[in-house]
Amino acid sequence: MRKKIALIGGGQIGQILAMLAAQKEMGDIVVLDIPDYVNPVKGKALDLMEMAPHGNYDANITGTSDYKDIQGSDVVIITAGKPRQAGMTREDLLSTNIKIISAVANGIKENAPDAFCIVLTNPLDAMVYTFHKITGFPKSQVIGMAGTLDTARYRAFLSMELGVSVADIAGTVLGGHGPTMVPLPRLTTIGGVPLTEVANQDLIDRVVERTRKAGTEIVTLFGKGSAFFSPAWSAIVIAESYLKDKRRVLPCATLCEGEYGINGLFIGVPCLISAKGMEKIFEIKLTDEEKERLGATKAAVQKTVDECDTFMS
Ligand code: APR
Repeated sequence: MRKKIALIGGGQIGQILAMLAAQKEMGDIVVLDIPDYVNPVKGKALDLMEMAPHGNYDANITGTSDYKDIQGSDVVIITAGKPRQAGMTREDLLSTNIKIISAVANGIKENAPDAFCIVLTNPLDAMVYTFHKITGFPKSQVIGMAGTLDTARYRAFLSMELGVSVADIAGTVLGGHGPTMVPLPRLTTIGGVPLTEVANQDLIDRVVERTRKAGTEIVTLFGKGSAFFSPAWSAIVIAESYLKDKRRVLPCATLCEGEYGINGLFIGVPCLISAKGMEKIFEIKLTDEEKERLGATKAAVQKTVDECDTFMS
């Protein structure tokens, strides 16, 4: 029997997720959206079914607004919520998206309690925290997609600056999904060669800064809405690692319980994603400066989470 993937939210990211999951034959796909948007979502699903003969995939793709249709899902990917507009921070979305994520969490809890859940809705670290709090799912079953995207952006910018294949750039970005995130140049390598030996400090600083503001750069260019291709691919990488037990080590927002000196927050750290879900957190020995930066990102995430807790009390 085919696997089943539920996509909650069939907007910009949701539609790319559906296309990628179909092309990769990850399973049958159900796209769920609000009743007011169910016809466009049904239309997108039908369009993708009609793409299958040339796209060379077999998958049933359907649109719905009924949570019963997500029953039996192996993976649920959540993009329901408002995206940023130019001039907004991710935190500006909190009051709207917390209501949406609460409704979505209850729908998933009731209908797909065994699914591996990947949250993309912003402000990411606070939304995945809220989702986990409402569902009460084990922490291995709930992950936030942010570091995977932030690291992809970091690698893309390094590739653009250095003129080397993105495939040969390995690195990671820790922390919250916002301007306080912590790229780690010290541990970045280009085909095994330390970045710090091939690039000067100016270049490194420029790339780090651009990575931190990468989402805003796209929002500003769009004027309306936020990035969708790269967030979708990043979520698919996580979903594939789970479904195929690829055991990828990816920076994801996971519940830290003492790791990195962080307790009770979802924040980006390197995670082993296997058929067990979020199987293991890898801890890195950080320098004092990196620890300080991680402390700043932790404080920023804590502030947004506190607002969520106040909202929900
Ligand atoms: N249940 C299901 N779907 C919902 C709900 C809900 N309660 N509320 C809103 N949606 C749907 C919208 O109808 C829309 O189709 O979520 C979809 C969101 O799509 P877009 O507005 O195109 O936003 P997108 O660019 O996909 O981003 C979604 O991911 O990266 C984050 O910041 C981004 O929070 C935003 C989210």
